[in-house]
Amino acid sequence: MQRFTGKTAVVTGASSGIGAASSLRLASEGATVVLADIADAAGEAVVRKITAGGGRAAFVHCDVSSPEGWQRLHDRTRKLAGPADVVHNNAFTHISAAAHELTEGGWDKEIAVNLKALYLGARTFVDDLRSTRGCFVATSSVHANFGLPGHPAYAASKGGICALIRQLAVEYGPEIRFNSVLPGPILTDAWDEVSEEERLLSARATALGRLGAAGEVASAVAFLASADASYITGTDLVVDGGWSVKKESK
Ligand SMILES: NC(=O)c1ccc[n+]([C@@H]2O[C@H](COP(=O)([O-])OP(=O)(O)OC[C@H]3O[C@@H](n4cnc5c(N)ncnc54)[C@H](O)[C@@H]3O)[C@@H](O)[C@H]2O)c1
Repeated sequence: MQRFTGKTAVVTGASSGIGAASSLRLASEGATVVLADIADAAGEAVVRKITAGGGRAAFVHCDVSSPEGWQRLHDRTRKLAGPADVVHNNAFTHISAAAHELTEGGWDKEIAVNLKALYLGARTFVDDLRSTRGCFVATSSVHANFGLPGHPAYAASKGGICALIRQLAVEYGPEIRFNSVLPGPILTDAWDEVSEEERLLSARATALGRLGAAGEVASAVAFLASADASYITGTDLVVDGGWSVKKESK
C-alpha cells in the first residue's frame, strides 16, 4: 500500500516505540516523515533506518511542551517537505505516584507534555492542515477510560486528549479530521522498568493473551491518517488486544 505518496507527515515522540513505528510505517507507505523528539541520537537512528530502506525522513529536536519547539518543528517541516498532511502527536512523560505523593511540578510537567502539547500542536499546524485538508492523530491510552493506581496525571492527560480531540474535530471540520488511538499494553521502552511477572499479568489481562507490538498501533495510526478513514473524525480507536473488555470477576 502507498497511501501517503506525496504527503508530509510529522510524528512526535518518534525516537522510540510507537512513534518510531508510526514514522517507519508512514514512510514505508510513501510519506516524507519529519520525526520530532528530545532524544536526538535515537531519532537520527530511526531516520537512518527509513532512508536506508529508500524512504524520506528528517529529524527535528522538539520538546512538545514548548510553543517555540512546535514553531521550529513547523518551520523546519515546511522548509524540508512543505505543509503537513498528517500530524501524529504521540510523545509522553510519566511519573508513577499516587495523587497525594505527586508533586505539583510533576503534575504540571505531565499535563504539559501529554495534554498541552496537543493544544500547541493543533494551534501550530492548523493552517497547514486546513490547506492540505489533512488530519491529526493523537496517542491517548486506555487509561483515559480506566482507573489504575499510581497514574493520576497520566490518566487525566489521556482523558483530556480524547475530550480535546472531539472538540478539535468539531472546531476544525470539515477541513481537518482529528482522531485518537488508545493503546493498551504495548511492549516498548516504556516497559523497561516493568518486571517479567507484571508483564505476564498484563498479557493475561488482554483477550488476545499477549502484549502488543508498536507496529500494531502504527497500523491503526496509518489507517486513521489515510483516506481509508475519510469519514472518521472525533473518535477514539482502542488498540489493546481486548484489555478493556476483559473482566474476570463475576
Ligand atoms: N507502551 C504502552 O504500553 C502504551 C500504552 C498506552 C499508551 N501509550 C502511549 O503511547 C505513546 C508512546 O509511548 P511508547 O510506549 O512508544 O513510549 P516510548 O518511551 O518508547 O517513547 C516515548 C518517546 O517520547 C519522547 N519524549 C518524552 N518527552 C518528550 C518531550 N517533552 N518532547 C518530545 N518528545 C518527548 C521520548 O524521548 C521517547 O522517544 C505515549 O503517548 C504513551 O502514553 C503507550
